[in-house]
This record gives sequence, structure tokens and C-alpha cells, in this order.
Amino acid sequence: MSPPSVITCRAAVAWGPGEPLVMEQVEVDPPLPMEIRLRVVCTSLCRSDVTQWESKAQPSLYPRIFGHEASGIVESIGEGVTEFEVGDHVLTIFIGECQSCKHCVSGKSNMCQVLGLERKGLMHSDQKTRFSIKGRPVYHYCAVSSFSEYTVVHSGCAVKISPTAPMDRICLLSCGAAAGFGAVWKVADISKGSTVVIFGLGTVGLSVAQAAKVRGAAHIIGVDINNDKHEKGKAFGVTKFINPDECDEPIQQVIKSMTDGGADYSFECIGDTGAVSTALQSCSDGWGLTVTLGVPKVKPEISAHYALLLSGKTLKGSLFGGWKPKSDLPSLVDKYLRKEINVDDLVSHDMPLDRINEAFNLMREGKCLRCVIHM
Ligand code: APR
Ligand code: ZN
Repeated sequence: MSPPSVITCRAAVAWGPGEPLVMEQVEVDPPLPMEIRLRVVCTSLCRSDVTQWESKAQPSLYPRIFGHEASGIVESIGEGVTEFEVGDHVLTIFIGECQSCKHCVSGKSNMCQVLGLERKGLMHSDQKTRFSIKGRPVYHYCAVSSFSEYTVVHSGCAVKISPTAPMDRICLLSCGAAAGFGAVWKVADISKGSTVVIFGLGTVGLSVAQAAKVRGAAHIIGVDINNDKHEKGKAFGVTKFINPDECDEPIQQVIKSMTDGGADYSFECIGDTGAVSTALQSCSDGWGLTVTLGVPKVKPEISAHYALLLSGKTLKGSLFGGWKPKSDLPSLVDKYLRKEINVDDLVSHDMPLDRINEAFNLMREGKCLRCVIHM
């Protein structure tokens, strides 16, 4: 077989933070050793894409191709790759798993030291980009960059999945939905009969609700400032909905009165550091556990009175629901295929790549759950 050559294809490119994406012809390099090139089939827009694109913190990393929640098919493989073959169906993973570093072998962590969260817009292996426009480098996002018809990822940043799984739905398991399930089943590992409070009922929060219901939580309280989330919440297992803007007292007080002193578990799924402290205040003394899933939009520091911790509460962080992507994702896909988890109802819109700015607007306006982009 002749070695793979450069592919020219369409991609939605961000030329600056907050600037509408522009459909461009981009050149996609062949995969280097241990990398694979994918034909992206579907990619859903995640809140973190929007958060990062809105942020003015990294103006030098443009032009840039966002997108990290995707399904695709292996188009070509780089030297040394034995795990994948051309034609394999895959999900991309934004925190890779090298399967040999201290964290990967620990059994306790998904914070791979080699292929962990990529923040500089460059490939892990050589700190360069695989995209260009007329020779000008185009930066990556989270080592995935799926708003392009083709992309190159490290073979540790993709996972082979069943070819029978519908690509336009299981892409949600590549990030948001899986993060919610994992926070409940893996990070908090909640017990049956417990009381749970969820701050923010987007795709992530609704996935937390669904997972809590599956585990047999007795009460699932959903908190959101958008009343449209009331009905959606119910469909995913929320037993009581509260809009903090319609409460006469602070939301943590409302929750404490409702739960005889605080919930067993609280989950921050907004991406607001203020809500982390509220979530901590809303859970029970002695054993209350707060898990954070959100990625803050503005102020990254959290503040909480130390008495909250003195009273025996725990604050636990998580990324991707604690899942080890390569080891754990295929079984989540199988759960989906056995209809044990509902991902379909988390999709509110389907649209082609050239309408991607619409998806960004819908998310900023709080008018969608997941928009699935079909390439
Ligand atoms: N109080 C309660 N709910 C709020 C508040 C608030 N102050 N501010 C926003 N919300 C609600 C929104 O109305 C929305 O329903 O939080 C929800 C957030 O949902 P999405 O924007 O759809 O985000 P989602 O994809 O679910 O991600 C949630 O997890 O992965 C991270 O980056 C992601 O920080 C984000 C978080
Ligand atoms: Zn590793």
C-alpha cells in the first residue's frame, strides 16, 4: 500500500476567540508514528468547546479547529500502530490513555501523564500541528479537533467501538454524557436510596440524573435557572426541580430544609465556581460528597469556608467522570446498545457542518442540549 498523503477537506475554523467559525479548505497531514487519521462522521458540540472559544486567554492559538466529542472511521494509520485498522469505528478521546504511565497503571486515575489534557493546541508527539491552510499552521483543540472532515489523533486518543453503534448518537459518549454517568457510578459511587442534588441540567447534569436513577437514588433534586429544564429533568429522573431565581431564601437553605440537613451527594454541572461552594453547602455534614464536573467559564478559583470541610464534607474533582477512556468506553457503548442508557434524548438538534455557528448560538442561548453535527 502506498503511504498516506495530505488530504484537503472542509473544516470549520475559528480565526479568533469568539469569532464565528468559517468554512475553510484545510490540509490534513498524514499520521505520524503511533497516530491515526480519521474521517470524522459526527461530532456533537460540547459546552467546553464554546467556553474555550469564548475565552480570551489564548489568543495566539488561532486559527484553531475546535471539537472533541466525536465518532469517526480510521482512514489511515501511522507507523507502529497495531491496535487499529483502516475502517475501524472509533470514538475520539480528549484525555488519552497511554496504558503504561504511572497514572494509567495505577487503577486509580485517568490523568494519563503522556496523553493527558492537551492545552497548547499541538499534537502530543512533536508539539506541532497536523492542519494547515495554505501552509499556515492551524491549532488543534484537546488533541481531537473534530470540526473537520478529517483529523489526526494519537492512537492513544481514540478507542475502537462496535461498528453497529449509531455514530450520530454515541458521539455524546466521547465526553459530556459519559462524564455525567461516570461522576455518579465511578467518582461518587453513590449508594441506593440516597439523596442527590444536581446543579445545572444540561447534557452533563441530565446524565448525572439518569445515572442516579439507575443506581436507585431515592430523591434527585435538579437545580437550574432555566424553567425549560423542569420537564427535561423529569424525563431523566429528576424528582424535584428548583429554580434558584424563584426562591425566597438561598438555594442551599432550600435544599437543606428539603433534605433534613443536606443531600448525600451534590454535583456541580454548570461550570460556575460559585456553585461549587453552594453545592458543598447543600450536602450533609459528616458524609456529604460534592463532585465537580463543570469547567469554569470565568473565575477559576473556588472559595469555601473551611468549616464546611471541618464538618466532614468532601469535595472531589473529576474529569471525564473518572473513566479510563480506552478501558471503559467500549462497555458504555455496549450499555447503550443494550438500551441500558438513554443518550438519544440528549440530542436536541442534528445539522450539517456548515451550520455549526447556529449550534454555537443555540448553546450560548441555552436553547439546546446536544447539537449533533453531521460531516
Ligand atoms: N444556577 C443553576 N443553573 C444554571 C446556572 C446557575 N447559576 N447557570 C447556568 N445554569 C444551567 C443552564 O441553564 C444549563 O441548563 O446549567 C446548565 C448547563 O448546561 P449546558 O450549558 O448545556 O452545559 P453542559 O454541556 O451540560 O456542561 C456543563 O460541564 O463539561 C462541563 O464545560 C462543561 O462547564 C460545563 C458543564
Ligand atoms: Zn498514561
